[in-house]
Amino acid sequence: MENNFSQLDEILRAYKSKPGILIPLLQEVQQCLGYLSKEAMRYVSEQMQIPAADIYGVATFYSMFKLKPQGKHIIRVCKGTACHVSDADGIKAALQTALQLEGDEDTTKDMNFTLMEVACLGCCSLSPVMMVDDTTFGKLTPEAISGILDRYAEGEEK
Ligand code: FES
Repeated sequence: MENNFSQLDEILRAYKSKPGILIPLLQEVQQCLGYLSKEAMRYVSEQMQIPAADIYGVATFYSMFKLKPQGKHIIRVCKGTACHVSDADGIKAALQTALQLEGDEDTTKDMNFTLMEVACLGCCSLSPVMMVDDTTFGKLTPEAISGILDRYAEGEEK
């Protein structure tokens, strides 16, 4: 499947010959595939006759584009100032330990979670804060992390 992108052809046809389409086009490609692999970007480049460097430049500039497969649940741990002074580092370390992420790994081997750092989530009074998908968890402690993650264990929902 990695090298067969025929499922993208309908999307690409819809954008053919339209100027200024790169961002919405890549959004649709990402929605279809889950992320933008190098192979997919190359395919779009060839089919749309858009220089690969332009596509790669846009895909790497905007944080909404994912260049690697993402986990089923996205954890956003806040590293804004208020959270930083409330031990956001300790929260992140607890998450990495609970998720068994090593080095710069950000996605669990079972593809259930992807961990990312973000700037202020807009609820500083609850610091330290993280979001799991669309749910906010505040006044976190490292000890609370594994209990929260258990709610999202494979096969269970919130
Ligand atoms: S700094 Fe974390 S929510 Fe504002």
